[in-house]
Amino acid sequence: MNKRQEEKKAWLRGLVKHVEPGKIVEFGCGSGFVLEVLSNQFPDSIIVGMDKSIERLKEVISKNLKNVIPIQADITENIFPKATFDTALFVGSLHEVFSYLGEEKVRDAFRIAHGVLKDNGVLIVQDFLKPSPKSVELILKNEEIKRRFLRFADEFRPRKVRYQERNHGVKLDIADAVEFISKYHSPSEEDWKQEMNETHFFFAQGDYQKVAQQTGFVIKKSKRLPKDQYWWEEIEKDIQITFESEYRWIQLVLVKRVAEASCLGSKP
Ligand SMILES: C[S@@+](CC[C@H](N)C(=O)[O-])C[C@H]1O[C@@H](n2cnc3c(N)ncnc32)[C@H](O)[C@@H]1O
Repeated sequence: MNKRQEEKKAWLRGLVKHVEPGKIVEFGCGSGFVLEVLSNQFPDSIIVGMDKSIERLKEVISKNLKNVIPIQADITENIFPKATFDTALFVGSLHEVFSYLGEEKVRDAFRIAHGVLKDNGVLIVQDFLKPSPKSVELILKNEEIKRRFLRFADEFRPRKVRYQERNHGVKLDIADAVEFISKYHSPSEEDWKQEMNETHFFFAQGDYQKVAQQTGFVIKKSKRLPKDQYWWEEIEKDIQITFESEYRWIQLVLVKRVAEASCLGSKP
């Protein structure tokens, strides 16, 4: 397991304690990293892993997790009867829904989760967190990284990247700066092309909370997680970062309480 996976597993521990065992669904399960954690922790639960990618689901099958059922489907289309599950999860899948299908489909995904959860069922969300807008500077330390940035500004599809050239770098909005930082190191051309279609930093904490409440959830926990320190240090050989960006991820624990309209309270 690499450092990133170790960190992800540690973060998941903070979420897994909120899981209601019984019937569990992960929407956008990928190759099954989260399913594996859930399967070990809840051996008596029935766990459904849903993803649109058959390649990813084949990886899930190869893990041979006894209580996991993989299903190929779009998580923005409902296929389950109402009130089926005790817990539902979106871990790293909503930014892809936003990127490829748009904001309304993110709302649809929350609505579907609400519908398929039993009363008092739990929805767990973990994804990237958009920073509050501010203008920041990136110092690009070599020619290769400068070329990479120009490609990013030209090819990034989700929004127009506006920047001003500076002596040794660029000035731009912090969301675009962290977007570039999170993508510039793509391991292959194919990976880069895919990343150019996806925005990681699409929702701020308030945006997530608003969609959750509008779709009928009560917020039990709303926690911001820091940037991955080791990754940040790696980057500094290519890019000098001249600003503070403390938070990079969000975790939400939401409850379907049909009778209650008010919020249980959220922690920053
Ligand atoms: C970044 S991966 C996260 C995988 C897993 N949850 C994890 O944390 O390891 C996001 C996954 O969501 C899936 N996904 C994105 N949009 C989807 C959609 N509309 N329907 C089904 N799956 C989707 C992708 O295929 C991908 O496997």
